[in-house]
Formats: sequence, C-alpha cells, structure tokens
Amino acid sequence: MPRDSNGTLTPGRVSAQRPVPASIPRPEYVGKKGPTPYTGGDVYDAETVELIRASGRIASQAIDAVEAALRPGVTTDELDRIAHEFVVSHDAYPSTLGYRGFPKSVCTSVNEVVCHGIPDDTELVEGDLINIDITAFANGVHGDLNRTFIVGEGAPETVDLVERTREALRRGIKAVAPGREVNVIGRAIESYAKRFGYGVVRDYTGHGVGRAFHSGLIIPHYDAPQFDDVMEVGMVFTIEPMLTLGGIEADVWSDDWTVTTRDKSLTAQFEHTLVVTERGADILTLS
Ligand code: MF3
Ligand code: CO
Ligand code: CO
Repeated sequence: MPRDSNGTLTPGRVSAQRPVPASIPRPEYVGKKGPTPYTGGDVYDAETVELIRASGRIASQAIDAVEAALRPGVTTDELDRIAHEFVVSHDAYPSTLGYRGFPKSVCTSVNEVVCHGIPDDTELVEGDLINIDITAFANGVHGDLNRTFIVGEGAPETVDLVERTREALRRGIKAVAPGREVNVIGRAIESYAKRFGYGVVRDYTGHGVGRAFHSGLIIPHYDAPQFDDVMEVGMVFTIEPMLTLGGIEADVWSDDWTVTTRDKSLTAQFEHTLVVTERGADILTLS
C-alpha cells in the first residue's frame, strides 16, 4: 500500500505501458529521448486555433470521465486507464505517454504531490485531493488542461484551497490581454493567493502549447517582471497555478517525475489552454 504510516505518499507499482492503435499519429518525440527543439512561434491562425480547441475538448472530456470514476478505493492506474481509453477512442494521442520517458497517459497528483505524479496502484481514500492533468494530441496540435478534485468529503481547509486555486486560475485568465506582458498573469495570481497565506509554486510554470507540447514560452504564476513577452492576438499558452497550504520548496522522487512539497503540505492546481483575443482570452480546453 503506497503510503507510509503518516499517510505520506510513497511510490507504488506502475503497470505495463498501454497500447495506442497504430492508426493514431504520434507526436514527434514519442520513441525518442525528448522533443526536437521547437522553432515555430506561439501565434496561430484561426483554423489552427480550432484544431487546438478540438484537442482541448477531448482532453477536457477525458477528465470528465475520470471525475465520474473518483471514489475511495479506485487506483490512480485505473484513472489512467479510463483517460487513455477515452483519448485513443477519440482518435487522439495522450501527449504525456512517452514524453521525455513519462510512462502514462495522465498525471495523477495526490495530496502533497505538486505535479507530474505517475499513475500506479495507489488507492484513493476519502478526503484525498487529486489533480488530473491530461493533454491530447490530434491534427498535429496539443490541448493541455488539469483540474483538482476531492475524493468524497474534504476538510474545510482542503475545500478552500481547491476553490481558491480555481479562482486564482480565473484571475490569471482575466489578466490576459493583447499588448500586456505575460508577467501580469503571475502578478494577478500571486496577489490573490497571498491573501490566504498560500505558497505559490515557482519552479513549474505555464507554457506555450500547440504544435509543441511545451514551446519554450514561459508563463509565471508569481510576480516575475523578467518574463516580459508581450501577448499578441492568436498567441496560445497555458496558465496552470499550483498553490500550497505551506511552503513552495519542492522535492522530486527518484522516479525523476513526481514533485512533492518539501514540507508535505497539500497542494492544488488548475490549468487551461487559451488563445489571446482582441478582448482578452478564449479558453480552448472546455468540454
Ligand atoms: N501536462 C503537464 C503540463 O501541464 C506536463 C506533463 S509532462 C509529463 O505542462 F511528462 F509529466 F507528463
Ligand atoms: Co501545461
Ligand atoms: Co497539463
């Protein structure tokens, strides 16, 4: 049972790799050590934005399917199976599968896991907080989102953390406008999170997404003026704040993926992919 006596998560057993039908096109990095450095831009024409929206919808609906299966006793591997089958049955490729060696189709990040949790035989228990992060690749483009859920009933401070993290993403999205620097997004998120004394994770950021899974464009979730890229109409990126009930220092497990808070405090995250419009932002990862 992958938890120690304090309830702290420990690595579990990872099941065999799930197959993807040969008819489904793979991202270029699959079967390689990592992606080829991306040289394209972050601004897309209207037609390509609609393709990103189609990928984003598949990913969002896959999360809906996972949400319906959440209950005490379910394993994160079973959630991976549900997401994987949903994505491939919609003729899309689950972008994390084989990305820099990540072995599964979804990231499942429980309690003190900040992000990049690997689905395994961990069984969820009542009151757990779990983030599901799914990216779907179809028609040559990725759509990336995540949401955090509570299994059954959560403690009041857990419920507050989840709702305020959702609100932090909403405020980040509201800060999007052409002509502004991307650092306005982090400023909006951090100033909101600070009201509650929450930690705002700095080591993992939002990113340009579309033809590349991670384009190189960085979107900070904290006040960081050095990220001064100017938003343009048609620019596509994610915003994905991670807030904690404690500190922002993180550790990575020896699997080289699983990121936890060093103080083991609870952490929540929400993510959308969006396009910058004349009037603000249009979310591309809705069901
Ligand atoms: N979907 C994550 C993000 O929001 C990336 C996961 S990469 C993985 O950027 F390899 F950990 F899956
Ligand atoms: Co992302
Ligand atoms: Co993601």
